[in-house]
Amino acid sequence: MYRTHTCGELRITDKNKLITLAGWVQTIRKFGAITFVDLRDRYGITQLLFGESLNNLLDENPLGREFVLQATGTVSERSNKNPNIPTGEIEIIVSSFKVLNKSVVPPFTIQDDTDGGDDLRMKYRYLDLRRNIVKKNIELRYAVSRAARNYLHHQGFMDIETPFLIKSTPEGARDFVVPSRMNPGQFYALPQSPQTFKQLLMISGYDRYYQVVKCFRDEDLRADRQPEFTQIDCEMSFVEQEDILNTFEGMVKFIFKEVKGIEYTEKLERMSWEDAMRYYGNDKPDIRFGMKLTELKSNYSGEDRNIFKKEIEASGFKVFNDAELVGAISVPGCCDYTRKQTDELTEWVKRPQIGMAGLVFAKYHSDGSLKSSVDKFFDESTLKSLAEKCQAKPGDLILILAGKEERTRKALSELRLEMGERLGFRKPDEFKLLWVVDFPLFEFSEEDNRYVARHHPFTSPKPNEIHLLDDASQYGTIKANAYDMVLNGNEIGGGSIRIFQRDVQEKMFAALGMSKEEAQHKFGFLLGAFEYGAPPHGGIAFGFDRLCAILGGSESIRDFIAFPKNNAGRDVMLDAPSTIDDKQLEELQIRFNLK
Ligand code: AMO
Repeated sequence: MYRTHTCGELRITDKNKLITLAGWVQTIRKFGAITFVDLRDRYGITQLLFGESLNNLLDENPLGREFVLQATGTVSERSNKNPNIPTGEIEIIVSSFKVLNKSVVPPFTIQDDTDGGDDLRMKYRYLDLRRNIVKKNIELRYAVSRAARNYLHHQGFMDIETPFLIKSTPEGARDFVVPSRMNPGQFYALPQSPQTFKQLLMISGYDRYYQVVKCFRDEDLRADRQPEFTQIDCEMSFVEQEDILNTFEGMVKFIFKEVKGIEYTEKLERMSWEDAMRYYGNDKPDIRFGMKLTELKSNYSGEDRNIFKKEIEASGFKVFNDAELVGAISVPGCCDYTRKQTDELTEWVKRPQIGMAGLVFAKYHSDGSLKSSVDKFFDESTLKSLAEKCQAKPGDLILILAGKEERTRKALSELRLEMGERLGFRKPDEFKLLWVVDFPLFEFSEEDNRYVARHHPFTSPKPNEIHLLDDASQYGTIKANAYDMVLNGNEIGGGSIRIFQRDVQEKMFAALGMSKEEAQHKFGFLLGAFEYGAPPHGGIAFGFDRLCAILGGSESIRDFIAFPKNNAGRDVMLDAPSTIDDKQLEELQIRFNLK
């Protein structure tokens, strides 16, 4: 037997027991004839004490960091207790030990505040995973998966696997492709999600499906994106949007309770996509704090919302007059910003990532007076009415951006988040969930000069708007039965009610610019299946890695994946992707024509 206990298990109540532990040497401290060793395993750390009688043995074969050690001894009360670890009251007086394996000196220290940089830790990820801080993330990930599976199992969902070598599933990203040796010149695609399979399973009658499943997307990477990531993927039959929202609100609340001990009792707020865009400037608002945007001037969906029109025109202030959108944020308690601070904020909005020409601000002082950067255009009473429209309070700093619609909205959203961050309103241990609903079915792609599906091509228009698919001039106005779940400003899940009739699906493909032949070639299997009694159905998929990261207080999903890729999509440990043998290429009948 290698061990009787783990390194996290022994307490003062085990005093005088003869035990054996096995683990990794974390630290070695020598005091004269006595040596202390901290032994670590997945469960914790226990202090070992090597007395004088073992000294010769240690001198002959010195221990090193990360050696794999087995030690037998007696549990004893420590004179110098460590209240910071659960085993801190005891130590093991070692009577015999064995080095099970040696280790070369690790390239970085295996502790919470390691000296290893990102690249080094990724190259030796198996060592990085030994660190407590990383292990906690992996444990949290397992707890989330367990909670989700338990909940779904008790709701009658069945876990069904779907294939990885498939035909392209369009979810808006590029496919990863795999050449087929047996079918030269032909390729499989790795699934961007199991979307079409879960719909086929509904047609097969498995009315509640789920899968914790890998998805593959060749897209530009960010902190919250990996080329292969995991979804909690779900689908249900004979449901309406309301059923899905309730079922999965239940799942996320259950996860919160199980994993974080947080009882989320209130019903999740629901916000229309339009309100999200109008009040927060994006479709995944962070509602941990207010600071909603006020549109002083906009022409949104053709509706003139120029609530400040008279004043703007009278002022002759060209920047506002020329702008498609003028939007404001009232930042609480910042009216005392110095010139230096407002200059710095102005530079911040002018950065290329934000791309605004400038920043207008008004300080609403506690005595009720207003001082703005555009005093020469607006008198005090106009500024007062502006403050009123922005629902500003004395003490606020009102920030105003103006310019082209899309860019300005995005900039306002970024500015709001930045100010929220600076003021400490975005606390990682505070969680705010929200449903965003009523997404537009399409969005216009300037690049392709046609409409593309905002969610994916299988999403149904709202039932009373299906007929609008017959009128191309109406595409821009159609709303979808689609919904996203948002947590602290991150999209953690998205789904929709699906089209389940062949003719509607054909119209959808046509609206997306697909010819009948192309639709048949790409999706003939699905269109065909719709003819054999497809039930009404809908579903959702959660970004499992994202959910874990946010629950763990981070926005970088890499920390929550055992073996992640770096920002260039490389696995630096494996050194993948890499070239393959000429023989493999020959078998695949592939020849390169690299530029
Ligand atoms: P969608 O494309 O919205 O929907 O994806 C669902 C969720 O997956 C997460 N996600 C990602 N996480 C990490 N890295 C990525 N590259 C990445 N891309 C997406 C997000 C997102 O909310 N088949 C549909 C779901 C459905 O309609 O049922 C789908 O895949 O958190």
